[in-house]
Formats: sequence, structure tokens, C-alpha cells
Amino acid sequence: MEKSYKRLIEGNRLFALSKQFDDPEYFKKLSLGQTPEYLWVGCSDSRVPANEITGTESGEIFVHRNIANLVIHTDMNLMSVLEYAVNVLGVKQIIVCGHYGCGGVRAAMSNSSFGLVDNWLRNIKDVYHEHKKELDEITDLEKRTDRLTELNVIDQAKNLAKTRIVQNAWQSGKKLEIHGWVYGMTSGLIKELNTLYDEKGDIENIYHYEI
Ligand code: CO
Repeated sequence: MEKSYKRLIEGNRLFALSKQFDDPEYFKKLSLGQTPEYLWVGCSDSRVPANEITGTESGEIFVHRNIANLVIHTDMNLMSVLEYAVNVLGVKQIIVCGHYGCGGVRAAMSNSSFGLVDNWLRNIKDVYHEHKKELDEITDLEKRTDRLTELNVIDQAKNLAKTRIVQNAWQSGKKLEIHGWVYGMTSGLIKELNTLYDEKGDIENIYHYEI
């Protein structure tokens, strides 16, 4: 039986060789530490790898991925990543990157039940509910799914701005931008949707913390 995972080990050897060929100090420099400028919150989908689609190298992006790129304030995993990225690594830009053709968004739009993930995808149903009027007016199912994908990204970017971690950074004068992007699976291109510079912009007063 062919061991398909061996291809990955082989790929890794080639990767290590070619990096060292281009720069003999490459891994030594990386081993000294990381100072990434970006935090990426993306979908787990295998077709949306953060570094590859942005033409960036190891050490440039701190990455968190989950199904449908959600920012949930009780998600200790994401909140720990966010706190470390902002307070310790000092990232300057946070990117929430969704993608068209997202299985999570599509599942959330249906009435089917998929098990445990239903609880996770409930958050997207809430985004739908919030924008029901606009979405219901789009008759084409694919276009409606695309629009929900965009609205979900915009909402998740706002969820970041609603955290104490981000507001604390802004109130202490740190330059921190939050970007909402969507990746086009068929074009390979990223579309910029929204940017947040402070908590005053699009975030309602009830979400503001006095820190
Ligand atoms: Co997805």
C-alpha cells in the first residue's frame, strides 16, 4: 500500500533544501523569534492557506483558523491567540478572511442538522437573522450565500472590535487595524470589505469598555 503521507515528508525535505539554497541562514534567522505584523483569522478550508494566497513567508502571519472564520467571545482558543498576538507580539493588522463557496456558511443557510457543528454555525444563522431583509431579497441562492459570506466577515471583524483586548490596545494609543476580506475561490483574488480603526466607528455604545 502506498503511503500517501510520505509525499509530505518528501515535500518538507525539498522545502528545507530550497530555502537553505536561497539563504543558508534562513532557518537560523527564523529560529531567533517571531515578529509578525499580521494576525489572520481565516476559515479552516484547505483551499485558503494564509501564507500561500498572500505571497508571504514563514514568520510574517500569526494564524488562527476555524470553520467559517468566526470570532466568538467565549472561544478561549481564539481569545488566547488574539491576546498573545496583540499584547505580546504587537501585531499591527488583524485580518478576518472569509471565502466564497464556504461550506460552513452554506450549511448555516440550510435547515439540515450536521451534529456538533450546528452549535458553532448557529452564530452564522444569527448573522443571517440580523440581515434577513437584505438577504431574503436576493433570489439567486448562490448570490445570497456570497452576500451572507461577506456580511459574516464584516460582523466577525466587528466582534474583534468588541473585545476588551482590542479596545485596550486602541485606548492605550496603539495603532491597530482590523480588516474584513473575502477570498474568491474561482479567481484567487481577495476583495476588501471593511476596515476598523477604533471602537467608535461601527460599534454600538453598549459594547464599549472603559479601561
Ligand atoms: Co469556509
